[in-house]
Amino acid sequence: MKVISADLEVVAVKPEQFPKDRRPEIALSGRSNVGKSSFVNTMLARKALARTSQRPGKTQTLNFYSINEAFYFVDVPGYGYAKVSKTERAKWGEMMENYFSNSECLKGVVQLVDARHAPSVDDVQMYHFLKHFEVPVIIVATKVDKLKKTHVPKHVKLVKQTLDFDDQDQFVLFSSMTGQGKDDAWGAVRQLIQI
Ligand code: GTP
Ligand code: MG
Repeated sequence: MKVISADLEVVAVKPEQFPKDRRPEIALSGRSNVGKSSFVNTMLARKALARTSQRPGKTQTLNFYSINEAFYFVDVPGYGYAKVSKTERAKWGEMMENYFSNSECLKGVVQLVDARHAPSVDDVQMYHFLKHFEVPVIIVATKVDKLKKTHVPKHVKLVKQTLDFDDQDQFVLFSSMTGQGKDDAWGAVRQLIQI
């Protein structure tokens, strides 16, 4: 995919603020710190368009990145960060539910998991939530640069088994550090937005 333009166009916390131009949207999903914002930067070849951090909880809003004025990546706050208060967790739930139930232009979700570990209970729940609502999912197993090459197949198996991965879905091994999997991820995204 040739990325000609990529801009943070809309920052939203409620449905009234979502873009109204009806362009297709691909949302990110995954635990805090898994690398969602880094994934956006790598895909768009923009070093720091999406703000990233070593500390979990960096992204707090729904950030709509307009790409080639044709579609959006929607970067979202992660889940599963232990230090988040009950009130904040409820706010997250409401914001995400509002998004998933109101977004008519959502064409699919890139669900990121850490390739180094078995997916968490939250990861499994999120994957099945998306499957239940028939939202097309791309599983991106990221931080693969941190694995020894010979260990990769074992980790892929663990991730797929834990998720009860549906072989109809797309699965991409990825690294924001090395760019591994970028072309595959674009292939998967393009298939969902049909461009
Ligand atoms: P929240 O906004 O808190 O939900 O986190 P996030 O999922 O957006 O994570 P973010 O992209 O901010 O990345 C978290 C940390 O992981 C940062 O220190 C990144 O540099 C690092 N990171 C992300 N992707 C990779 C990767 O593929 N490889 C390695 N080695 N580090 C990565
Ligand atoms: Mg983030």
